[in-house]
Parts: sequence; structure tokens; C-alpha cells
Amino acid sequence: KAKIAILISGRGSNMAAFVYAAKSPNCPYDIVLVASNDPEAPGLRLAEAESIATFAHPHKGMAREDHDDIMHDAILRSGAEYVVLAGYMRILSDGFVKKWSDRMLNIHPSLLPKYKGLDTYQRAIDARDNVAGCSVHLVTPELDDGPVLAQTEVAILPDDDADSLASRTLIAEHQLYPATVAHYVTRESNPDWILQQIRDRALALEESS
Ligand code: GAR
Repeated sequence: KAKIAILISGRGSNMAAFVYAAKSPNCPYDIVLVASNDPEAPGLRLAEAESIATFAHPHKGMAREDHDDIMHDAILRSGAEYVVLAGYMRILSDGFVKKWSDRMLNIHPSLLPKYKGLDTYQRAIDARDNVAGCSVHLVTPELDDGPVLAQTEVAILPDDDADSLASRTLIAEHQLYPATVAHYVTRESNPDWILQQIRDRALALEESS
């Protein structure tokens, strides 16, 4: 099985989705580490209760590169082959991103390339979009810019506010992210899958522009 490390900063509901997905006998990955930049992140307590190794190191007062080095060392020690960002609210240094090139994924709560950065739900509502959604992408040095591997669209209801839209999008995230990582870590046995995803996204983008 592939070994994955999950990086969180807070609640960790996506991380929990991975924990439960990994309990299924067919799951192609094991979670070898849950790491955080915040020792108080509630998600760490859940990982501990599930007997998953945890690591935390606060970033406060540290240079970004130094903090990333500490996280990188902890990930290496865990034996992880992949890094899964799940609500890790730190911008990563280029050096860290390059070390995990093609082996680090992120989930972002918008239909990328729309609404990179923060406040994605409110921005979708303000733009009077009919659909919002979430995207899983490979991490590249530019924020929220790597190749999109998979997306789920989520309809925006007339009376949605940012909170209600966020809660519903989260349900979609919990389905999409573990499934996409499962495909990704087994891409050698299904090499067409990843190419197909990238082609599909490119096509959808062309159609929407
Ligand atoms: C999720 O909605 C995720 O998409 C978002 O943070 C939330 C984390 O929730 N990530 C980003 O905004 C990254 N730019 P969780 O801690 O319950 O998984």
C-alpha cells in the first residue's frame, strides 16, 4: 500500500474522511502520519484516538523555509511517499514544494481555476454563479495553480450563504478527495486515468471560456 502523510491546520474533517476510507480493505493507501503547524489543531486529537502517528510544530516566529524543513523531516521519518494537504493553511516554500513535486496534492473549495485563495464561497455567491464546488490538484509553487485531477460541482441554492454553501461543499470534498488520492497512488496500474482527468479538465475549461 502507498504511504501517505496528511497535513492539517484545524478541524481535520477531510483528514477524518481519509481515516475512515483507509479502513476499507480495498483502500490502496495507509496513513502513516498526520502533521500540523498547530499543536492545538482538533484534527490531531482525532488522529491520536485512531492510533495514527501525529507530529506538530508551531510556525510562529520561524522563517517559512525553516518550518517547512521541520515538517519535511517529520514526513520523511514517517516513511510517507505522498503528502496530502487537507486544510493546511500555510503557503509552502518553493523548496518544500519541489521536494514533493508530483507527490503532493491539495483540495481547494472552488472549481479551479476560479477563486484561488480565500473566501471562495462568498466570491461564488457574489458572482451569482449557479454552481460552486471543490477541486483536487497537484501542488506547484504557484498558489492553487497545479494541474487539476478531479472536481465535484455543487449547486448553489437561492438562499445559500457562505456557511451553508461551505457545509454542503464539504460533503462533496469528503467523497472526492480520498477517492482521487486512491486513483492517484495507483496510477501506474491505471496510467490512462490521470491523463484522462487532465484532458477532461482542459476540455471543460475550453468549453466554459
Ligand atoms: C476545507 O474546506 C478545504 O477545502 C479548505 O479548508 C477546509 C478544511 O477543512 N482548504 C482551503 O481553503 C485551502 N486553500 P477540514 O480541516 O475540516 O478538512
